[in-house]
Amino acid sequence: MSKKITATITAVGGYVPEDKLTNFDLEKMVDTNDEWIRTRTGISERRILKGEGKATSDMVVPAVQELCRKRGISPEEIDCLIVGTVTPDMVFPSTANIACDKLGAKNAWGFDVAAACSGFLFSLTQGAALIESGRYKKVVVCGADKMSAIIDYSDRATCIIFGDGAGAVLLEPAEEEGYGVLDSILKTDGSGAPFLHMKAGGSLRPASMATVMAKEHYAYQEGQAVFKFAVKGMADVSAELLERNNLTGEDIAWLVPHQANLRIIDATANRMGLPKEKVMINIDRYGNTTAGTIPLCLWEWEKQLKKGDNVVLAAFGGGFTWGATWLKWGYNGA
Ligand code: UT7
Repeated sequence: MSKKITATITAVGGYVPEDKLTNFDLEKMVDTNDEWIRTRTGISERRILKGEGKATSDMVVPAVQELCRKRGISPEEIDCLIVGTVTPDMVFPSTANIACDKLGAKNAWGFDVAAACSGFLFSLTQGAALIESGRYKKVVVCGADKMSAIIDYSDRATCIIFGDGAGAVLLEPAEEEGYGVLDSILKTDGSGAPFLHMKAGGSLRPASMATVMAKEHYAYQEGQAVFKFAVKGMADVSAELLERNNLTGEDIAWLVPHQANLRIIDATANRMGLPKEKVMINIDRYGNTTAGTIPLCLWEWEKQLKKGDNVVLAAFGGGFTWGATWLKWGYNGA
């Protein structure tokens, strides 16, 4: 019988724009204050992609270039690029398509995954399945969002949370058994759509003067309702993942949670029995970059990750979508 192939991460890349939007900047734009934002969300500042003609693919490209450099491969060696995003450059073609062209990834095919804040996790599972199939050797999975493109900066309920950024990982077949993406639980519940969505711009409500005037091309969120679902959803699915793999908090080296609100992150870590030192947190500096948060954490913590570390990734987002993934890290540092 042939050996089961598992997909392992072999390089990480990331990109955050230079321009910062601080809580103090927001104080001048809406009725809010630094103290409220920090205590209710854990966020101090976020990054904003500025400049005419700059889109999500412009963050995907440097993130992927970095991982290619680290791994010593050319973009032409990439077999497939998957981009988790809800802020594609345009409705079609996909951001993956556009990014492949900009990268010179001439031999890759690609597609986008619209799963909001769970976009990276859903894409990772899909990318891992392509490697496990045995047909592909190098799959790049990216989480990238230019949230500033769909945020109403006069709405204090949403503008304080979101920021722009992109992270990417390279998946390859693991050389040693027991490493890589080992298990995932992913969930969707479309009845959550009313609480977090963009009202217009799709086939339901195509763009018109009326939709623009009604500000329907911005993200709409009922924060409190989403918060309640997120706390329960992310914690439940993470606990379920540990349980079905006979793992406890003590076995886990790192929790990499979606960065939407520090209080949601704390609730998930508590439920898993994990101390703060084992939790990757960068929400203070980048806010909620939607599909970008998890790979951006891996990018920042890559040097501290050690071969054999059990890592749990967990997310909750619009849709609703949520899930958790267990992987055994395959290399030391970067
Ligand atoms: O990314 C994946 C999906 N998204 C999430 O997971 C986000 C989940 N939701 C949240 O993180 C939180 O609900 C928010 C951060 C969005 C809001 O925090 P909250 O603690 O749920 O605030 P709230 O909406 O319950 O509002 C509490 C109070 C209200 O005032 P009153 O009625 O108590 O007088 C709001 O009007 O805070 C007020 N408020 C603000 N005050 C200052 C709401 N937003 C602000 C603000 N600055 N930006």
